[in-house]
Amino acid sequence: MKDIDLTEISADDWDELNDPRPAESDFDRVVEEAISRRGFLGGVLAFGSGAATMGVGTLMSSVSAEAMGHSRFAFKPIGIATDSTVHVPEGYSWSVVAKWGQPMTSDAEPFDPVKGHSAANASKVFGENTDGMWLFNIDGSEVIAVNNEYANRRTNLPYEGDAAGTPQSLDDVRLFQGIQGVTIVEVAPDDSGQYQIVVDSPYNRRIDHNTPMEITGPAAGHDMMKTAADPDGKMSLGTMNNCGSGPTPWGTYLTCEENFNGYFGSTDENFERTDGMKRYGVGLDGWGYDYHKWDERFDISKNPNEPNRAGWVVEIDPSDPNSTPKKRTGLGRIKHENAAVAIAPSGHVVVYMGDDERGEHLYKYVSNGTYAPGKDTENLLNDGTLYAAKFNWDGTGEWLALTPESTGMEATEILVHTRVAATSVGATTMDRPEWVQVNPIAAEGYCCLTNNSRRGATNDDGSIRTNPGGVPMTANGPNPRDLNNFGQVVRWYPANDDHATDAFRWDLYVMAGNPVVGEGAYKGSPNVNEGNMFNSPDGLMFDSAGLVWIQTDGDDSNEEEFAGQGNNQMLAGDPVSGEIHRFLTGPNGCEVTGLCWSTDRKTMFVGIQHPGGSFPDGEGLPRSSIVAVWRDDGGLVG
Ligand code: FEO
Ligand code: CA
Ligand code: CA
Repeated sequence: MKDIDLTEISADDWDELNDPRPAESDFDRVVEEAISRRGFLGGVLAFGSGAATMGVGTLMSSVSAEAMGHSRFAFKPIGIATDSTVHVPEGYSWSVVAKWGQPMTSDAEPFDPVKGHSAANASKVFGENTDGMWLFNIDGSEVIAVNNEYANRRTNLPYEGDAAGTPQSLDDVRLFQGIQGVTIVEVAPDDSGQYQIVVDSPYNRRIDHNTPMEITGPAAGHDMMKTAADPDGKMSLGTMNNCGSGPTPWGTYLTCEENFNGYFGSTDENFERTDGMKRYGVGLDGWGYDYHKWDERFDISKNPNEPNRAGWVVEIDPSDPNSTPKKRTGLGRIKHENAAVAIAPSGHVVVYMGDDERGEHLYKYVSNGTYAPGKDTENLLNDGTLYAAKFNWDGTGEWLALTPESTGMEATEILVHTRVAATSVGATTMDRPEWVQVNPIAAEGYCCLTNNSRRGATNDDGSIRTNPGGVPMTANGPNPRDLNNFGQVVRWYPANDDHATDAFRWDLYVMAGNPVVGEGAYKGSPNVNEGNMFNSPDGLMFDSAGLVWIQTDGDDSNEEEFAGQGNNQMLAGDPVSGEIHRFLTGPNGCEVTGLCWSTDRKTMFVGIQHPGGSFPDGEGLPRSSIVAVWRDDGGLVG
């Protein structure tokens, strides 16, 4: 055991002392024990320690049908693609439903295929960079709430030279601010049966970086939330970097603020950032949006509390276009990926949430109140307890409550600086937690851990790279691979089949990899083969039959360690057999993200974010789009 200074002990040091890492190969142990524990592949195979290196493609394809007796997949898997369009299986078709800049009101300017659109038009058109979404049936109208995560700076501001993509005026900033956030749009099939935007629907709405938001929950009104413009700390402007999302059982939409830090900067280059700003990556320069140079609200030297008002989950009522979105501070402040809601047998509301940054943590919230149809839901997301996940090597784990007693932090501080609280109790560092989902037909949670190139990497002085909280990112149970460029999906089983309990068991549903050119652990788990391989699982969604859909946001170079994986894609997985089949490939350059279904489940809506080429128009600017996918025979698709 290495010497550890107990006055400066980190969470991982503590883990090392109390839960030493085993000597045997991480990957062999995890694959062999964690996966086989659940009777992987129908329990017909027991893997030897070399299973991951013994031609798993053959192994998988030869056993799957036999082990299952039948297939739950209603499609013939497709191969990879490297072109600039969408591909779906034989017997399925697709069309574009909505694309960036497409008018939602009849008085909107048409989209210019070279210049895009103006700031004034932004509130009337479909936003950019579609991400998490959900379809709500509101009195018979089908209304999609969809996130518009960020702005492609160069396509919005096509200036020459160094100015390309850089705001030159407040109007340029307003353009960026206006095309991000959330779009709420009614859709309906046209005469040919293809879903289209319903122009001028009363439900159509853009929520952007300047839309008033009510701050609710325990942090509302706290000093950390007050600004000169909002001395009460109860009303902020805008929801930002809306990544994944989740519906609630009571008909609202949870949109999740992820990389909010990138919009802030300082006009005073000598401004001393607080520890909280540093932990969340709020810097002096921002990520190039330059809001702080034109809109003082984003200048941290003048409004140091403004970043505290972002990084939350926001609840939106899509049925009321005049409703004020509500920031739910009870769910904590992290770089929120999405929010997966489950109702415990007791009626308590459980919300699982990932914090997408290398080495950050996985969370859940459990409400104090209970849900029942028709009961008031206003405080269900305001009043509860936050927990962070700790995974042990032996396949067990526990949710660690983040309380003043466990963290030594004041209750509101735990919500505003949730990362600090989670690290203080020894939460496990994860390989970038992206979407979380709950299986609707079994008590299981799943989370995509997209990748972590810095896991196990060393600094120049030989020390292990740390997460933003200074915790070394050594390999651990669900994150067993150093230099992890492929990612994995972790799964947990709450004790007593109750998502509100503290204890769980876990395993890995899949470790992505390349069984053709990869070596050892980098070949992937046995359910990855030459025909279905992918990297960087990100989006995740269950259909009503319990198949789990995996969307990727990874390296689509199709070269070297990613050779044979092609463009980003969407695959369907069987939670029981472990089988995974490729269903859809996106255009080159895109990430596939966001998935929901029509009311009749005969149409699937899939998000295509930041495509390359000139998707989908074939000429002009590439436009992020929602596409519809259906079966030619009119059958169900989820
Ligand atoms: Fe917006 Fe972590 O993806
Ligand atoms: Ca994502
Ligand atoms: Ca991602």
